Amino acid sequence: MRDVMHYSVAGDIAVFGIDNPPVNGLSQAVRAGLQAAFQRALEDTTVDAIVIHSCTGSFSAGADIAEFASGNFNTQPELPALLEAIEASPKLVIAAIDGMALGGGLELALACDYRIAASAAKLGLPEVSLGILPGAGGTQRLPRLADPATALEMIVSGRPVTAQAASEAGFVDRLHTADTPLLDAAVSYARELLAANAPRLSCSEMLIDTAALPADFFTDRRLEAARRQRGFQAPQRCIDAVEAACTLPFADGLARERALFAQCVTSPQARAQQHVFFAERAAARIPGVGADTPPRDIARVAVIGAGTMGGGIAMNFINAGIPTVLLDLSEESLQRGLDAIRNNYAISVSKGRLDASRVEQCLGLLQATTQYADIADADLVIEAVFERLDIKQNVFRTLDEVCKPGAILASNTSTLDLDAIAAVTSRPQDVIGLHFFSPANVMRLLEVVRGARTAPDVIASAQKVARRIGKLPVVVGVCFGFVGNRMLEPYGREAMRMLLEGASPAQIDRVLTDFGLAMGLCSMSDLAGIDVSYLTRQGNRAAIAHDPGYGFIGDRLYEKGHYGQKTGQGFYLYAGRQRSENPEVEEIAATAAAELGIARREISEEEILERCLFPLVNEGARILEEGIACRASDCDLIYVNGYGFPAWRGGPMHYADETGLDVILAGMQHYRDQLGEYGAMWFEPAPLLERLVAEGGTFRDFDRGAEIDKR
Ligand code: 3HC
Ligand code: NAI
Repeated sequence: MRDVMHYSVAGDIAVFGIDNPPVNGLSQAVRAGLQAAFQRALEDTTVDAIVIHSCTGSFSAGADIAEFASGNFNTQPELPALLEAIEASPKLVIAAIDGMALGGGLELALACDYRIAASAAKLGLPEVSLGILPGAGGTQRLPRLADPATALEMIVSGRPVTAQAASEAGFVDRLHTADTPLLDAAVSYARELLAANAPRLSCSEMLIDTAALPADFFTDRRLEAARRQRGFQAPQRCIDAVEAACTLPFADGLARERALFAQCVTSPQARAQQHVFFAERAAARIPGVGADTPPRDIARVAVIGAGTMGGGIAMNFINAGIPTVLLDLSEESLQRGLDAIRNNYAISVSKGRLDASRVEQCLGLLQATTQYADIADADLVIEAVFERLDIKQNVFRTLDEVCKPGAILASNTSTLDLDAIAAVTSRPQDVIGLHFFSPANVMRLLEVVRGARTAPDVIASAQKVARRIGKLPVVVGVCFGFVGNRMLEPYGREAMRMLLEGASPAQIDRVLTDFGLAMGLCSMSDLAGIDVSYLTRQGNRAAIAHDPGYGFIGDRLYEKGHYGQKTGQGFYLYAGRQRSENPEVEEIAATAAAELGIARREISEEEILERCLFPLVNEGARILEEGIACRASDCDLIYVNGYGFPAWRGGPMHYADETGLDVILAGMQHYRDQLGEYGAMWFEPAPLLERLVAEGGTFRDFDRGAEIDKR
């Protein structure tokens, strides 16, 4: 078995080296190794001080997250008790931090007497993003070593800080800036401390100065967290724990932290958020694309179409320092696009998120043109012109002529058949879909659409460049709407149908936001543009023609030129920042219901939620069975990062697993039978859903069954 803890002695210093790749997770084996090493150093009378460092180049990413689900995090020795023992050590203990010290990793360092950190190191307590709080003393020690406000901000946001910031805040004692090995510097530092007879510094003996905190400090932070992290429980528990640090003796504070941790660690929210964590890592594994597939170099990018999406897409690349050419048909369109980009930057500057010189740097990387000759040397071209197959095919014919061999040709289409686009080129292996979400410079999700002939190295390149520009790439297959918009279709269909049956936009939106979605369906339609969903329906008329009520209200609003927020009228009326119900929607709905013979009635909140969510999940099951998504957790990532689905519910497929697939199936069958002809049209359960229920399986099990190539 691999030795995860190395013990050595250099003169009077014992050196513990943690060696548990990839991230030095504090698994049971590491904890046991640490305990044994500590015991040995205490017993060795030649040892006066201990240095704990990493053999892997990164200190530790904290507790082994997989142990939360297995329950192994509770197996002996437990981290909190181990850290208390280290803190009580009669011999000086020094942490040597390089790379990352996160979660339990930072907590280990905080339990030491002194900390030396490489200047490039990052230190943080990201537990909150896993639905938990630091559970090995972090909430009690950090407010003592730094100040409570800094500690609270780090713990509630989960954001790591630089070694420099940690040093200024007081929880790093020495910065290692020289180009020499950190371990050598740490051993010298230990000797220096011994020579100076430096005191042991235990947090248990430190008091917190709360005098500088405003009276309503914790109340205000709770309200702020409730607003910014709506629906999430962990931030509130983090605040409870830091408040305990400020009001209770150290030992009682630790006990309070323990109790709060125990409350969170087995909660459904923690399960959901940890599911999302592992889902993000799983999404990087793509069948047929080996981890060693060499990506193509992407040094220059071109974007075709300077509209809403093209402008945002170009911003991503120039923000990441990649020279980008933006091409449109006319100088006027280009100018409009450039104005929109400048306006976006100006907003960021006015909000203090960017400084003006940085904006100039980015804009310096952007070239605008109407000439295809200017994109001939681009390594990646992303087309974002109008959503019409013939127009896109023409653009790709031109790209095929002008682009250099090996250039990756991508389309941002949201619904069109990527293979039909690739087919007009002589190089379908170089064609891929890169489906950005609006606003493209903000939204983290990127659906990477794999065509029938897309080459593995083109997919690997897309994954790599996506991460370089800060996106989360999720690979999907070709079908109408890919994964996100295809699953959205039945969800939107039901919301619209229930307007005809008697619900109001505000009622539907309230049910969905109460569930945790960032926005209700009607608000989302108004924001994205009623024209956009209308045009999508136009591209799919044959598939919906049998349902005369399909998208009825949206079609009427479109015909009247009421496109939502951009025209001031849609499912709601907009006046400046004010929004009110649009009585026109109720009129259209009532008239249409009479025409179509739909009985209007009061619809319960439960029915609204189920009719929106169950078909969404059902479509996810079809997508999985067809292999359009590699795994259910990919659908979850797409919904959490592209459609405002609450991360604390883990995404729609995880939500379905937690709810019970039998409940989802029974719901589908219920509405199929209850809604008559309409129900028969749209509520047929997916075969995979039926099969999993019959077998007692889950979407998660189905993932495990998938043969994912891990080469
Ligand atoms: N436990 C278990 N596995 C972990 C892990 C952890 N803490 N951190 C990362 N991993 C695994 C990943 O799942 C991945 O596995 P895979 O290759 O099989 O998919 C592998 O390590 C590499 O991770 P990444 O792909 O994320 O590597 P990166 O280099 O991109 O990122 C990282 C490294 C910044 C450390 C990132 O992995 C990360 O943020 N990890 C989580 C850190 C965290 O949340 N720590 C707190 C843990 S909870 C805790 O400590 C509780 C305590 O208070 C008691
Ligand atoms: P848009 O109408 O804002 O911009 C399209 C731009 O393309 C215009 O500036 C137009 O002049 C230019 N253009 C048209 N034909 C061209 C050609 N032959 N050569 C060069 N430029 C040409 O459209 P938008 O919203 O930016 O959409 C673009 C693409 O992105 C579409 O495929 C759309 O489906 C997709 N998309 C749109 C999203 C949205 O929310 N708007 C979200 C995700 C994808």
